[in-house]
Amino acid sequence: MTPFNGWIVRDTADGPRATFEQLGTEMLDDLDTSVRVHYSSINYKDALALQGRPGVVRRHPLVAGIDVTGEVLASRHPRWREGDLVTLDGAGLGEELHGGLAGLAVVNGDDLVRVPDPFSPRQAAAIGTAGFTAALSLLALERHGAAPENGPVLVTGSGGGVGSIAVALLAAAGYEVIAATGRPDALGGHLTALGAARIVDRAELTSSKRPLGKQRWAGVIDAAGGSVLAGALAGLQHSGVATTCGLAAGTEYPGNVLPFILRGISLVGIDSVRTPVSRREAAWRCLARHLRPALLDTLTRTVPLSHAQEAAAELLAGSGTGRIVVDAAQRD
Ligand SMILES: NC(=O)c1ccc[n+]([C@@H]2O[C@H](COP(=O)([O-])OP(=O)(O)OC[C@H]3O[C@@H](n4cnc5c(N)ncnc54)[C@H](OP(=O)(O)O)[C@@H]3O)[C@@H](O)[C@H]2O)c1
Repeated sequence: MTPFNGWIVRDTADGPRATFEQLGTEMLDDLDTSVRVHYSSINYKDALALQGRPGVVRRHPLVAGIDVTGEVLASRHPRWREGDLVTLDGAGLGEELHGGLAGLAVVNGDDLVRVPDPFSPRQAAAIGTAGFTAALSLLALERHGAAPENGPVLVTGSGGGVGSIAVALLAAAGYEVIAATGRPDALGGHLTALGAARIVDRAELTSSKRPLGKQRWAGVIDAAGGSVLAGALAGLQHSGVATTCGLAAGTEYPGNVLPFILRGISLVGIDSVRTPVSRREAAWRCLARHLRPALLDTLTRTVPLSHAQEAAAELLAGSGTGRIVVDAAQRD
């Protein structure tokens, strides 16, 4: 078949290195469904892989990209046929299996989800792992008793991909949203437009080292970890619930058990990679029900595939906002 372009991560003497190359189909995995990639996206993990940071890519050489959205070219899987528009987040792509930052992907049909109305393929890619994780977090909160009438929900890392979509999704689902950000002056207006009722400077969360503070929110979607998570839990109301998915502020949890045993709070971990397909479909139904495509467009920008590495550098520098879609067909 025709060669295609893609980002491939190789193990070199100086560590992992990502380069943009012309690739052949023979190097891809022997899985049941081949997809012409229309769009992928830059998530935190993609940024690490494209910038040659260790820890994401576990097999070399490997096509980078933890998300793929596109059109089925051929499938041996009973659910899929040529022309179906599909999307896939995680499931080992870009970590153990060749991923979506390329013109072609060969994937496991079991994990695919149909691009749901009302989203276009570009909007499905804008949601990507980040938005999918925000939806998994909301569903986890609700499985543990969260409801709009219980009180506000705090979102941390709200300027980023997971956080921005979590703010928009929660607000559309009827929650009062408190958006915590390290850039309150620059992003306050944007987060309010996404649906945040109030903005909190993340320094407020990290400055107090006390495990129990004033009870300010009924739920938390945390995309930061570290001292941000500890501060968020200190402000959680009695019987409140928090989800944890991210580590931008660190992997250590500098808190203690007091909020758990004196306020009966719960902390739920989110792993978007190994989510079974039934839960994947539930998350996409949640997104389709609540997230307005036009609002999603306001937090998304698109770059051509060849520019993915530059976009990754911006994301790691913490200067970007919202979501970066990668267009596999767009020329420079
Ligand atoms: N568990 C899962 O399945 C899963 C899935 C997706 C993502 N994640 C993780 O979730 C996190 C967010 O992913 P993303 O794609 O949304 O990344 P992102 O777009 O880079 O957003 C991360 C946000 O975190 C905040 N932040 C950055 N550096 C920070 C620091 N040193 N201390 C505190 N906050 C900081 C920033 O928001 P503000 O400037 O607004 O504060 C930034 O925009 C990453 O750690 C990622 O690996 C996990």
